[in-house]
Amino acid sequence: MNVRATILFLLFFSLYLCKAQKIIPYPNQYEPTKGELKVPKTISITASGEFASLIPGFIQSAEQFSVSVIEKRSKGFIQLVQNSTLVNPEEYRLTITSREIMIEAGEAAGCFYGLQSALQLIINAGSDGKIPCAFIHDWPRYAWRSLMLDEARHFIGMEQVKSLLDFMALQKLNKFHWHLTDSHGWRIEIKQYPLLTSIGARGDLTNPNGAVQYYTQAEIAEIVGYARQRFIEIIPEIDMPGHATAATRAYPEFSGGGSKRYPNYTFNPGKEGTYTFITNILKEVTTLFPSRYIHIGGDEVHFGNEEWNSIVDVQQLMKKHDFSNLIDVEHYFIKRMSDSIRNLNKTLIGWDEVVDANLPVANTVVMWWRHEKPKQLDKAISKGYQVIMCPRIPLYFDFIQLESHKYGRKWSDGAYVPIELVYNFPGTDYTSGVSISTDLIKGMQANLWTERIHSPERLQFMAYPRMSALSEAAWTQDKMKNFENFNSRMDYMMKIYEKKGVTYFNYRNVDAETEVPGPVR
Ligand code: ACM
Repeated sequence: MNVRATILFLLFFSLYLCKAQKIIPYPNQYEPTKGELKVPKTISITASGEFASLIPGFIQSAEQFSVSVIEKRSKGFIQLVQNSTLVNPEEYRLTITSREIMIEAGEAAGCFYGLQSALQLIINAGSDGKIPCAFIHDWPRYAWRSLMLDEARHFIGMEQVKSLLDFMALQKLNKFHWHLTDSHGWRIEIKQYPLLTSIGARGDLTNPNGAVQYYTQAEIAEIVGYARQRFIEIIPEIDMPGHATAATRAYPEFSGGGSKRYPNYTFNPGKEGTYTFITNILKEVTTLFPSRYIHIGGDEVHFGNEEWNSIVDVQQLMKKHDFSNLIDVEHYFIKRMSDSIRNLNKTLIGWDEVVDANLPVANTVVMWWRHEKPKQLDKAISKGYQVIMCPRIPLYFDFIQLESHKYGRKWSDGAYVPIELVYNFPGTDYTSGVSISTDLIKGMQANLWTERIHSPERLQFMAYPRMSALSEAAWTQDKMKNFENFNSRMDYMMKIYEKKGVTYFNYRNVDAETEVPGPVR
């Protein structure tokens, strides 16, 4: 390219990137067109067919940003149009002319995402109330774009969960993985086993003798409905056979003991009653969550299975099946639960330890989390498992985001999780050789563990703005990603955070920022 051509190219490229600068995640195809559209004080909206059902939700979410919308019968300022040639269920087209906005999609999810893009543009209209004309054609890079919240270590509560769901929807994240049980608390009502909550939900990591905190089944239904209205699927996690102390505190007859450091950490894999107990729990859980997935954890069993060596039931099980070590027992347990889940017509999700249990490929999805073990990701793929990527570095949002922060985690080599690392994930050579473009990779997820998060402000400080980077990493094709450009669009997203009163970490003004403290450990 000669100099003139290079300058022209750079000019057009920057124009191309700048013009769409108010949408996160960045659309996969954006063409600026001539002219501007003046946004009226009250926006009218019309829809064809089933898309009309999206209008009440849109009116509600627009109101949260002081944008006034009314439904009309004929030709509104925003028109929602069904177009069956758009085949990806999450795909949409958004055409902005000097008179109106038209959103086309094949399915409701796509139309919903078109509306989210339109809403961001409208909220961020210039001071003259105008938005630039454009043609957008957009679809997700990954089908699985997810956030996980741990409510076992510290209970966060419905209001914050709904707020997270609002921001997820606005940024096209579509799965919410809910870590509802762990050693420090059991947070979901199970009617058949009331002690799980009356005893198991007591306290939290900071205050083990604190109040009972959990979601009733009616509250779960409310949150599931709230999420569904925002095209977010909720996947519940009941962690087993380790991380089970809250459950074994409530029902000690199913405890498989633990270790000195983690007493009563496991369920008892040698007792037939354990399988009935957990299967009954899962049955109730599946009635509350329409998702076809259920997450059963399966992580870090070795932290506390020492007592399996001395429990008679487990020793008998080992003899009966000729097991030579505790890993065999762990895999036996996971296989039994996999059978239960198949009988419930659900698909199992497990942390990457389950790769070694040889579960059926068609009924198992793996979450790769141990970033220091990329070979576990390779192994999952080579065995044919579908995988969701959530490696600690850079997708654990309980890790600090600035070197000088004190309250969150760092890895043993000092690694932490600044926003740019989240944004650039997965890159091209993250793993030990597995192709990240394989169809077996369903997508990615960030995990908000709450050992170091105990208040809404702290939760928000750790979630925002990294959630915005996650959404673009999961939605936008590599070739359209550019951190500097994302950075400039964050001006607008931060204004949205501010309008909603979110305590976010302003990574661009670190000298003026103070870390929101977490629990002292
Ligand atoms: C995990 O962080 N233990 C999945």
